[in-house]
Amino acid sequence: MKEVILTGIKPTNDIHIGNYLGAIKPAIKFVKENPNTDFYYFIADYHALTSMRDPESFNHYVYSVAATWLACGLDPKRCVIYRQSDIPEVFELNWLLACMTPKGDMNRAHSYKAILQTNQENKRDLDYGVNMGLYSYPILMAADILLFDTHKVPVGKDQIQHIEIARSIAQRINEVYKDDIFREPQEFINEKTGYIPGLDGRKMSKSYDNGIPLFSTEKKLKKLINKIKTDSTDAEAPKDPDSSLVMDFYKLFARAEAISDLEKRLRKGLGWGYAKQELFEVMNKEIAPQREKYDALMDDKSKIDQILTDGASKARLVAREVLDRVKSKMCHY
Ligand code: ADP
Ligand code: TRP
Repeated sequence: MKEVILTGIKPTNDIHIGNYLGAIKPAIKFVKENPNTDFYYFIADYHALTSMRDPESFNHYVYSVAATWLACGLDPKRCVIYRQSDIPEVFELNWLLACMTPKGDMNRAHSYKAILQTNQENKRDLDYGVNMGLYSYPILMAADILLFDTHKVPVGKDQIQHIEIARSIAQRINEVYKDDIFREPQEFINEKTGYIPGLDGRKMSKSYDNGIPLFSTEKKLKKLINKIKTDSTDAEAPKDPDSSLVMDFYKLFARAEAISDLEKRLRKGLGWGYAKQELFEVMNKEIAPQREKYDALMDDKSKIDQILTDGASKARLVAREVLDRVKSKMCHY
């Protein structure tokens, strides 16, 4: 049995460098380094419907996530790339899992609890803004994962609880039916890039408007880098390299020698403006060729359509087999 690695990204907004460094880049590296593994990377479009209400931008971001995967170097011959909603088996499994999941497990989900807390702080009805899709989001995510007998799920740290829930749903069903119906998945976190801070110091997130989009224009990239907060010491005064996000980001893109060189110069006394310019250069060097591919894919979406159609056919073959196995064990069909 080959190892199976699977991950998904919600098409809710522009991909930012937190998504890129925390999820996309390590996931693509995995594909390149593991020729004997099966990979499933998908666009979690129906998860996005828990919050998106504009069909046009919803559709735009579906293509944008697909184009990002491809522009960053994901090879569709080595990895099945598909759109979640093209796999009806996911939603059938979702129901089977929902019937085996205690409501209390959903009450304890961090993202749901965060909304309750905001409602409480704003003295609103606790259920304000909570639709059933959002409430049972972790079950659909468990269906995404369990449907492909996934071993590992590469994600950022914010998703750990969701993988734990998927694992506990699998364990519970295996226990109740006294059979190995589901494989128990594990999260795979890159310690260095699992939590990328945003421009305001909180987690970089599509929901906080604190991100640096991966594929904005060079001009916008430069402008956002210039917005990173630094202390207001004189340009020539010695700086603590660890006191600003500038260096944190620089470390994520530059080589070891360049990092220690910039640290040394900051300690001696270098204006943050210069450090920001170097950050822009090192980031843009990595991103520019990918940006070009991204723009080309978004200009003519037929290539993406073809890849998603092929991906869905390949994914459904596996999904059908696993779902049939599950139904034979849970329903004696
Ligand atoms: P967002 O929080 O911006 O909406 P998503 O939930 O769509 O991002 O996340 C897509 C992937 O990117 C997930 O694997 C998630 O863990 C990862 N990710 C998101 N934000 C960050 C971040 N700031 N640092 C590291 N990884 C992140
Ligand atoms: N919840 C994930 C996020 O917000 C997206 C996602 C949906 C996912 N299904 C998944 C990630 C399955 C990994 C595996 O980023």
